[in-house]
Amino acid sequence: MGRVVLACIALALVFVSCAPEPPATEPVARGRQLYHSLGCANCHEPNLFGQRLGPPLDHIGTVAATRRSGLSAPDYIRQSIIDPGAFVVPGYQDSMPRDLGRDLSPTDLDALVAYLLSLK
Ligand code: HEC
Repeated sequence: MGRVVLACIALALVFVSCAPEPPATEPVARGRQLYHSLGCANCHEPNLFGQRLGPPLDHIGTVAATRRSGLSAPDYIRQSIIDPGAFVVPGYQDSMPRDLGRDLSPTDLDALVAYLLSLK
């Protein structure tokens, strides 16, 4: 009997840990979830061969303010997501997908921008 109970508890734990993470409500935490679920890391983090297609975003919260005169850091980041071709980072191809921000709700887009801004 004890074994059955233990097996049920184990099964329940597996089930809970496999269930998708519920959307976070705090913007930066939500933005981090979106960054991963939208596949941003596929290009912005090194792949198995240590290469990356896009520039590192580890300090984008600071770098963003220096990219285009007249554009604040949040505005630059927002533009980079919804219109990646508007400014192409020197040394990189204009290969970032155009549709990544299209289906985001305004709240989720704000959250993604807030997360990237937090990477100082
Ligand atoms: C298919 C690869 C790819 C994916 C996926 C991708 N990016 Fe990019 N990203 C790039 C490349 C290449 C550049 C540099 C060229 C440019 O400026 O458009 C870039 C540039 C950027 C920049 C400007 C960086 C800087 O230093 O000025 C930001 C911000 C950015 N991406 C955010 C994102 C976010 C957020 C996502 C996910 C929603 C994402 N990217 C998904 C390839 C990608």
